[in-house]
Amino acid sequence: MDQMLVSSWFNLHSSVPSSYVQPPESRPSHTVVSEKSIPVIDLGGHNRAETLHKVLKASEEYGFFQVINHGVPKDLIEGTLNIFKEFHAMPAKEKMRECSRDPKGSCKLYTSREINKKDAIQFWKDTLRHACPPSGEYMEYWPQKPARYRWRTLKSLGGNDYVYVNIFSSRIYDSKGLGLTPGYFNSVLTENPTVQAHHYPPCPEPSLTLGAPKHRDPTIITILLQDKGINALQVFRDGEWIGVEPIPNAFVVNIWLLLQITSNGRLVGPEHRVVTNSRVARTSVAYCINPSNKTIIESAKTCVSSTNPPKYKPISYEDFRRDILIKGTAFVEAELMQSH
Ligand code: OGA
Ligand code: NI
Repeated sequence: MDQMLVSSWFNLHSSVPSSYVQPPESRPSHTVVSEKSIPVIDLGGHNRAETLHKVLKASEEYGFFQVINHGVPKDLIEGTLNIFKEFHAMPAKEKMRECSRDPKGSCKLYTSREINKKDAIQFWKDTLRHACPPSGEYMEYWPQKPARYRWRTLKSLGGNDYVYVNIFSSRIYDSKGLGLTPGYFNSVLTENPTVQAHHYPPCPEPSLTLGAPKHRDPTIITILLQDKGINALQVFRDGEWIGVEPIPNAFVVNIWLLLQITSNGRLVGPEHRVVTNSRVARTSVAYCINPSNKTIIESAKTCVSSTNPPKYKPISYEDFRRDILIKGTAFVEAELMQSH
């Protein structure tokens, strides 16, 4: 497996191996990137009602936005990105060893070549993924290297501070915004977060490849930290790709099907993808907020009425995840709507 990691062999090639060449219609060279940008929301203002209004508007219109002045210290953000960079820079064997403590696989290092069919088209990235609940459960399976990995990751992504969820649940999707009951997001809905630290090595032919395919995230919300100065993440909207310009220390927030169901279709998460570049490696850290397995996903009571009945069939998160893996997201979405 360690030989499959893109970071183990990318520099041995001056052209992209054929299994990494996208079909013409999916290639970055085939598509034009729009001049537009996604909304940037300042969370530091004093007019809370106005901020919430902006968040809701951006969520309705784009399903994707960046937040600045969010209160997470700059040092913590830089330290988080750096620890994951250091992780991906370690020798392949060491990385694999650090990710093999849990036989059940709650911590995993993988590439698309490992998880996709052999003849499928592959993507130019390696990903470290592990469970990251506030309870600290599963921490014994996290990497212990680089030094202070656990401490650093816990401090920024979990633990008592539980920085991200606190900020993004209470400051972004406040009860008033969606009409949800106070504390809605600090409940079982957010109990099961995972972290995905992506590493996109430089690529000799960026016009032919993709770092991540066009996709939507199977989460409630994804909160993403991205490297400075590298344009790579793009959002699909109205038939064109919009680049998500990296703003130092900002978080990119995107919503997905679970929040779409919770909000009874009011908020819709868009498709997005990642392109590569030939100059530098890029690291991004996605903090994926998910419910616990037994949680029933359904439209929140406050988001339905007699004139706006629930549009989706309730489903447990466990079944939802399984269906997504087997049938794909578009199919599951259609199925949940139809059968209701
Ligand atoms: C994801 C994702 C974007 C990036 O993890 O789902 O879309 O920039 N990541 O790595
Ligand atoms: Ni995504």
